[in-house]
Amino acid sequence: MKKIIVTGAFGQIGSELIPVLNDRYGKKNVVAVGHHNIPKSYDGILEKAEITDLKKIERIIKKHNAGIIYHLVSILSAKGEKDPQLTWQVNMNGLKNILDLAVSYNLKVFWPSSIAAFGPTTPRENTPQITVLEPTTMYGITKMAGEGLCHYYFLKYSLDVRSLRYPGIISWKTEPGGGTTDYAVAIFYEAIIKGKYRCFVKKETILPMMYMDDAVQATIKLMEAPAQKITIRTSYNLAAISFRADELAQEIQKHLPLKVEYVPDHRQKIADSWPKSIDDSFARRDWGWRHRYDLAKMVSAMLKNLRKKLNK
Ligand code: SER
Repeated sequence: MKKIIVTGAFGQIGSELIPVLNDRYGKKNVVAVGHHNIPKSYDGILEKAEITDLKKIERIIKKHNAGIIYHLVSILSAKGEKDPQLTWQVNMNGLKNILDLAVSYNLKVFWPSSIAAFGPTTPRENTPQITVLEPTTMYGITKMAGEGLCHYYFLKYSLDVRSLRYPGIISWKTEPGGGTTDYAVAIFYEAIIKGKYRCFVKKETILPMMYMDDAVQATIKLMEAPAQKITIRTSYNLAAISFRADELAQEIQKHLPLKVEYVPDHRQKIADSWPKSIDDSFARRDWGWRHRYDLAKMVSAMLKNLRKKLNK
């Protein structure tokens, strides 16, 4: 079997996708490419490389005879605003390098886009698949442009590149990593550790979200779908749950005492530029996407897993 390469292997998604890929395709067929936060205990195939180091990434692809690449490296929205130049370089140049290598070495590619590709001029309720993309963050601009680039490589070079517009992903393995939707991750840590949380978005803020297990399941389902089923080569809308910030707090309060203060900061503006809910009917129709976690089930799973991780 040709090997599967995962870049950004130890980021939010990589940390949870890799164990599932290992189980599904065998540990000897999955190569983790990382740079930061490499766990000492990692016992799969590991390559250390920065995504901007084109020569090194090429050597890794050749060395392992790769057939598939999950290119997950990305600087998220709030962090991206601190250094827009670096965000462009990592997110865009990184993607362009991977797409060029994928054409040369005949790789199938997965690349994540995001609800951040949308902007204030996009319809915010039930956002359609094909709609206005005028993002206002550098992260969102790299997602919008990246979608265009993926589509172009599909049309021009017949590259089998597939993508999802992930909503905010809620997960427990890695700590919140500089995203605007990360309030919905941080709140769980603070609830368990301190019993109180200072939320950086208003309580009325509604954003599309998804539990990590659903995101991983969607990713694998998309990548395993027959090519003729894939009708979207920019990036598929993908949805599970949408809730107000205070609805999330109330759901957590059913399990443990939690005080929440709402003190919006610069991230409120980013949240307000994104949709509240997403129409993902293309994904449901084309390759059978179904989410499994609603708000209550997601909160129970998060608390259970995070308590175990934090020994609380
Ligand atoms: N989770 C991302 C962020 O908030 C959105 O894709 O930046």
